[in-house]
Amino acid sequence: MKKILIGSYILIIIVVIFGIGKSGIFDSKNEKAIAAGEKVYINNCLVCHGETGKGEGSNSGTAINNQHFLSAVSDKDLYNYVKYGREGTAMPAYGPRLQEKDLNNLTAFMRNWQTKEIDFDVPKTISGDPERGLKKYNLYCLNCHGEAGAGKLKMGTVLSNPQYLQYTTDKQMWIGIAYGREETRMGPSLKGLEGARQLSKKDITDIISYLRTVKPKNEKINDYLTP
Ligand code: HEC
Ligand code: HEC
Repeated sequence: MKKILIGSYILIIIVVIFGIGKSGIFDSKNEKAIAAGEKVYINNCLVCHGETGKGEGSNSGTAINNQHFLSAVSDKDLYNYVKYGREGTAMPAYGPRLQEKDLNNLTAFMRNWQTKEIDFDVPKTISGDPERGLKKYNLYCLNCHGEAGAGKLKMGTVLSNPQYLQYTTDKQMWIGIAYGREETRMGPSLKGLEGARQLSKKDITDIISYLRTVKPKNEKINDYLTP
């Protein structure tokens, strides 16, 4: 009799553990972070980056729910972008405005937009000729991103921004330029992809080497809009 009792206790415990596993109680920490992050997002970011993060807010903001972008950045990168902002652009630094846990929750919320992991083909070393890069930049990028990456109203983001350059690696720039951001005006640049530019790997590498030499402009660019 005792044995049967112990046996049924064990069975109950197994059922309970299995039930908890299925119900996702162990995932609830992340679910909570995402929900809390959404609130912070709605209050602070929606006005520019839009309800769905496509940059469709009433003020200027980029497409941060973009799968190319999300596959190229780590959680730490997202956190740094928000914490340090981008001086001289519309993107404020939230370090002084939000608490640490809000920043972490926001990161969880943005990461939750990611639906796939994209593998990008990126050269192992990214070191090119900045002078050649300048010429290529002026031909293919200046139209939207302005002279020396100063950014252009309603056209292209600031690329000479000190925080952008500090918290973005060469590899991430390479991915952004080569593959672009789907559903934005930043189309792909790499030859063979469906973009207007059709640049070689060397062209892209040279442009990055050039962008690493640009000096930030101090004039404020208040507005930059995606269509
Ligand atoms: C007043 C408009 C505005 C607000 C408010 C704003 N952003 Fe931004 N954000 C921008 C713009 C514009 C950029 C691109 C700046 C540039 O490089 O030229 C940007 C860049 C970013 C980036 C870098 C991604 C990229 O496109 O390269 C992230 C991540 C981001 N914002 C997240 C947030 C979050 C999270 C909030 C809320 C806590 C927020 N932003 C609030 C306008 C805004
Ligand atoms: C037709 C206009 C246009 C052209 C031409 C263009 N871009 Fe862009 N670029 C954009 C826009 C708009 C974005 C922001 C997209 C978004 O909403 O997320 C962007 C984003 C970027 C980013 C990501 C920046 C960030 O803040 O994280 C990089 C890097 C970039 N462009 C580099 C280039 C380079 C280099 C060229 C030339 C080879 C180029 N772009 C050509 C419009 C353009």
